[in-house]
Amino acid sequence: MNDTFLQACRGEKTDYTPVWFMRQAGRYLPEYQAVRGKVSFLELCKNPELCTEVSIQPVDILDVDAAIMFSDILIPMEAMNLRLEFHEGRGPVFPDPIRDRQGVDDLLVPDPDEAMPFVMETIRLLRRELKVPLIGFSGAPFTLATYLIEGGSSKVFLETKRMMYQAPELYHALLAKITECTSLYLQAQARAGAQALQIFDSWVGILAPDDYRRFALPYVQSIISDLRKVTDIPVIYFANNGATLIELTKTAGADVLGLDWRIDIKDAVARVGDHAVQGNLDPVALFLPQDQLEARIKRILDNAAGARGHIFNLGHGILPQTPPEQARIAVEAVHRFSGR
Ligand code: CP3
Repeated sequence: MNDTFLQACRGEKTDYTPVWFMRQAGRYLPEYQAVRGKVSFLELCKNPELCTEVSIQPVDILDVDAAIMFSDILIPMEAMNLRLEFHEGRGPVFPDPIRDRQGVDDLLVPDPDEAMPFVMETIRLLRRELKVPLIGFSGAPFTLATYLIEGGSSKVFLETKRMMYQAPELYHALLAKITECTSLYLQAQARAGAQALQIFDSWVGILAPDDYRRFALPYVQSIISDLRKVTDIPVIYFANNGATLIELTKTAGADVLGLDWRIDIKDAVARVGDHAVQGNLDPVALFLPQDQLEARIKRILDNAAGARGHIFNLGHGILPQTPPEQARIAVEAVHRFSGR
């Protein structure tokens, strides 16, 4: 068992810098496309054997130091009693967005083992196959709420902010319900065998610090403090576009702070104190010629040298257009430069 990733999460000294990539199981791999060609995205998410297969693909192909279970952050939202569709080229759609009290009241807080047995089965299958640690995950309540309120992806988040500013009680009622669901969901993943948990706060960078402190952070803190009561596995909190929020995100209670590429990792390390950090190569750097790609990797490794644990990653998900060979070159370079 290669435990380097978990050691780095716990801030222990490691023989080399572990690396994995957000969205490493996905469309840039022809092997993923081959599986996905046979089933829809939601069918794939609900099939433990196929989820296991596509989760393992990047471990074998790229030689990364951790696997992330294949699923989506929106799967538990469907289990809360919401219609969820994935449209080719447009992403997720909730045809009945939540805008009023009735919408919030109609949401269920499901038993995750009963409502999403396929996720727990995927975790159990993966643990039997993997020789690297397995990461489970969820969305953070604020990020999940944006999808439910907007009815899908958004650029300005008008409806979300409108509810937050003009109907704060409704907003907080919705967030409380999403938080309860997410909390139970992550605890169930830990029981099933996940060895670390990542909370994706993909859209939190649209919030001013004071709004983040009032409308997003408390719910992440609550999930992590609930987790601490039942498990000691590492928690990674990825607040995308969160450079202006670091002093706040480090109070979330996570072991590891995920960093996007917009912040210099040296600056982040100076500000996060005794947290381990994960990141933060610009995903577009994977399109560079090898020498330029390697120079950027080297710079991040050097600048993160003072951290109390560094897990190399991209600053956001790998892009579908990425040549797999480039991702493999990057993993090899991280390992070589850090002494494996
Ligand atoms: O490899 C992995 O990281 C594991 C699987 C994973 C997926 N989605 C698979 C997926 C994970 C961890 C996610 C998280 C996720 N999903 C996030 C947070 C991370 C981030 O990127 O900020 C978000 C915001 C979503 C919501 C979502 N799912 C969107 C917006 C889309 C469509 C746009 C896009 O990027 O494709 C999805 C679909 C999705 N989730 C795909 C995959 C592989 C593509 C679906 C396909 O095969 O057609």
